[in-house]
Amino acid sequence: MRSLLLIFTFVTSVLAGPWIQVPPLGHAETIELPPKALGHNKRTLTNVTTTETTAWGATCTELHFPISVKRTTPYNLTLENYNVTILYETAKRHVLVSNTYEIAGRLCVPAPQHRKRNLDDTIQVLVHGATFNKIMWDLPYKPEKYSYTKRVNEEGYTTFAFDLIGAGNSTFPNGLMETNTGTFVEITHQVIQKLRTTTTFGNKTWKRIIFGGFSIGGIVANSLSEKYPADVDLLLLHGISWDITWIYPAFLAGLQASASTIDPQRWGGIEPFYQTQTTRASRIAACFHGDYEAEITEWDWRLRDFDSLGAALTFTFHLVTAPKFKGPVFLGIGENDSTFCGGEKCSTAPYDVVKRFPRAKVHNVRVYKNTGHLVLFHKTGPQLIEDSLRFLKENGF
Ligand SMILES: *[C@@H]1O[C@H](CO)[C@@H](O)[C@H](O)[C@H]1NC(C)=O
Ligand SMILES: *[C@@H]1O[C@H](CO)[C@@H](O)[C@H](O)[C@H]1NC(C)=O
Ligand SMILES: *[C@@H]1O[C@H](CO)[C@@H](O)[C@H](O)[C@H]1NC(C)=O
Ligand SMILES: *[C@@H]1O[C@H](CO)[C@@H](O)[C@H](O)[C@H]1NC(C)=O
Ligand SMILES: *[C@@H]1O[C@H](CO)[C@@H](O)[C@H](O)[C@H]1NC(C)=O
Ligand SMILES: *[C@@H]1O[C@H](CO)[C@@H](O)[C@H](O)[C@H]1NC(C)=O
Repeated sequence: MRSLLLIFTFVTSVLAGPWIQVPPLGHAETIELPPKALGHNKRTLTNVTTTETTAWGATCTELHFPISVKRTTPYNLTLENYNVTILYETAKRHVLVSNTYEIAGRLCVPAPQHRKRNLDDTIQVLVHGATFNKIMWDLPYKPEKYSYTKRVNEEGYTTFAFDLIGAGNSTFPNGLMETNTGTFVEITHQVIQKLRTTTTFGNKTWKRIIFGGFSIGGIVANSLSEKYPADVDLLLLHGISWDITWIYPAFLAGLQASASTIDPQRWGGIEPFYQTQTTRASRIAACFHGDYEAEITEWDWRLRDFDSLGAALTFTFHLVTAPKFKGPVFLGIGENDSTFCGGEKCSTAPYDVVKRFPRAKVHNVRVYKNTGHLVLFHKTGPQLIEDSLRFLKENGF
């Protein structure tokens, strides 16, 4: 009875928020992004379509489209009846709630002079990490070095980077019951079905799908290729491994707290299940190590987005073995990745990709020197892009 009461008090205080006081480590910063319509769980779509031409001549369109997911757990789990079944059902990688979300994606079609006939029906689907959004694939800072999108567009690849729910311009539903890895996987599956079978994205259907995922985006790719092995043709995994020893300590060392308490003025409307790093130093501890430009950490800080309690609770359950996936798999990781590579000492962890994708046609592992978790924003970032490109070409993409 007493523990039931405690749980009840916990849930109600979570719902009432604020439930975590920000530690007095530096001061809260207001990021200079346009304010978002937060706390929304829209069923009416805003139907945004904006198109721009980039400096490298690509045509990029921000598309907002609906994706519906169906509950896969047999239980009707709600916060009002909170109990441990929520934990066990997310461990089984279930979707807990049926809903329709607005997903925001950015489609970039290469300039005519960059297009290649053999890539006509090939698209790269890009999924960001937690506390990031789709902008990470096209950083405005020194795009000639750090924009993955620019580089691969110039090589003729069309890209489609989308915001997971609870990030960027996509819907912010309940951050525990809905914004979790099981739902991310299901949404990604639906997005891929739409790419393959409808003409919503660039007026054509896409036959060959390359999946590029960073951190939780790579974990989504792993789980997806176990559940739906035919969805994707080739995997580019950035910043993941299957060694979970360091994951939760490193995650906690990022000093995440409820976004609404970090900056009440800007983020006060977001439910307390959404969280992010409290200070620049804690962001750097989570994402950087070794060789990187000081200035890039400032861009990264200003562009940082949200994690959710749901994502944090569930992501390790999606580090799985995908015995049926047959496509080529590339894995690139920083040797000083504090989360996935045993802190300062990365040993054999990345090579587990061979065991985790036992039937993959090809495995390729790259470990980058003096590099932390967010490989792309380190001095080795351009090398990661080149290695990913070479892997694609070697495998006929
Ligand atoms: C949404 O956009 C499409 C074209 O992209 C247009 O045909 C349609 O009328 C729009 N719907 C609404 C409700 O604005
Ligand atoms: C789930 O339970 C809640 C009350 O706890 C109820 O309001 C809701 O209608 C139920 N949903 C379904 C699909 O049964
Ligand atoms: C948790 O709640 C759900 C929905 O009310 C119920 O079906 C389930 O049996 C409960 N689990 C436990 C362990 O009490
Ligand atoms: C969301 O949309 C706004 C307005 O179109 C844009 O400025 C911003 O960059 C978008 N955010 C992301 C994460 O793409
Ligand atoms: C798709 O076709 C429409 C209508 O012809 C055009 O306006 C739009 O630019 C095309 N989109 C892309 C990405 O090619
Ligand atoms: C990064 O990892 C390597 C390999 O374990 C280690 O030798 C090196 O000292 C680390 N770099 C830093 C800056 O800690």
